[in-house]
Amino acid sequence: MTRLSSISRRKFLAQSSAVAAATALPATSFAQETMRTRTIPGTNEALPVAALGSPDVFYITPEGATDELPKTLVQTMYDMGGRVIDTPAFFRPDPPVLGGMIQEMGIQDDLFLVGKITVNGAEAAAEHLDKTIANLGKRPLDLMLLHNMRDAENTWPVLEKAKAEGKVRYIGASEASLVIGNEVLEKFMKDKKPDFIMPAYSISLNAVEDRILPLAADMGVGVISIESFKLGENDGAYFSVTADKELPEWAAEFDCESWAQFALKYVLSNPIVTCTATETNKPHHVVDNMRAGYGRLPDQAMRERMRTYFQTLI
Ligand SMILES: NC(=O)c1ccc[n+]([C@@H]2O[C@H](COP(=O)([O-])OP(=O)(O)OC[C@H]3O[C@@H](n4cnc5c(N)ncnc54)[C@H](OP(=O)(O)O)[C@@H]3O)[C@@H](O)[C@H]2O)c1
Repeated sequence: MTRLSSISRRKFLAQSSAVAAATALPATSFAQETMRTRTIPGTNEALPVAALGSPDVFYITPEGATDELPKTLVQTMYDMGGRVIDTPAFFRPDPPVLGGMIQEMGIQDDLFLVGKITVNGAEAAAEHLDKTIANLGKRPLDLMLLHNMRDAENTWPVLEKAKAEGKVRYIGASEASLVIGNEVLEKFMKDKKPDFIMPAYSISLNAVEDRILPLAADMGVGVISIESFKLGENDGAYFSVTADKELPEWAAEFDCESWAQFALKYVLSNPIVTCTATETNKPHHVVDNMRAGYGRLPDQAMRERMRTYFQTLI
């Protein structure tokens, strides 16, 4: 059973025509025609494995622009079967535009929305949570995280209270690579027993495979991974390595059509990962990334082959 309702055929067709016009939907089809889902540990709730992160256009509408681009990004994800959005975490100081948009589109209740506390102190954290819920128009909010475990001693009790009061359904913390460190995350998991973590995890930044992911599996913690395309300290730098390279022929053995899917299918073939969020401001990249949730995934031997092969390209 899933809480994520499916959209009506009429609504789907009306919306899809807009997306089809804006994006080049691929012609190939897989035996598996719906996006793969994974169950949140300890529940019967399933989430589609490919999630959308928040590019700058989810925060503000640039001067002279319309909301057409951010809406198309969301609509494309939705039409491709995605339901999870890692929403903008900051008020700068205005509320991010995404909240109003998804309410206007009338889809916020179909989505699994992730927010983050990005302030210190209990009072500020409680206020940030309320602002996020109001902005996204969804109570209970699906998941609220502490951004990089920020000021956890003061802010985690705020999330525990909010969950007990029914303001949020799940709580947890994020940990971007090279910012806090996996030791701190491991201690946080053992001490606080979160429902979810959001760690950095990619074919080249895979230290979480040693202890963090096995611990998440043991504890029944959901995992929304990020930074699939990071290399070293740079977002998206993975693509500077793959730019002039052909995909190996054997990538077809796990229905991989692009270098983005090569990175994402590596991450998603780890069964401990519930879903993975990617950020882009290009609708055709949303299509590409959502397609990683379709078709076959590499097995263990193939994962090792992928990792070794990628190392030869760097
Ligand atoms: N501590 C934290 O909580 C934390 C830290 C970092 C990130 N995050 C969140 O994680 C989510 C994902 O962001 P990320 O930082 O991990 O970035 P990412 O998704 O790993 O990489 C984004 C970069 O990849 C490019 N890209 C995306 N799809 C592509 C495709 N199919 N083909 C070619 N290029 C592609 C994008 O450029 P284009 O726009 O040109 O496509 C962009 O430069 C976001 O919601 C972000 O807020 C959270």
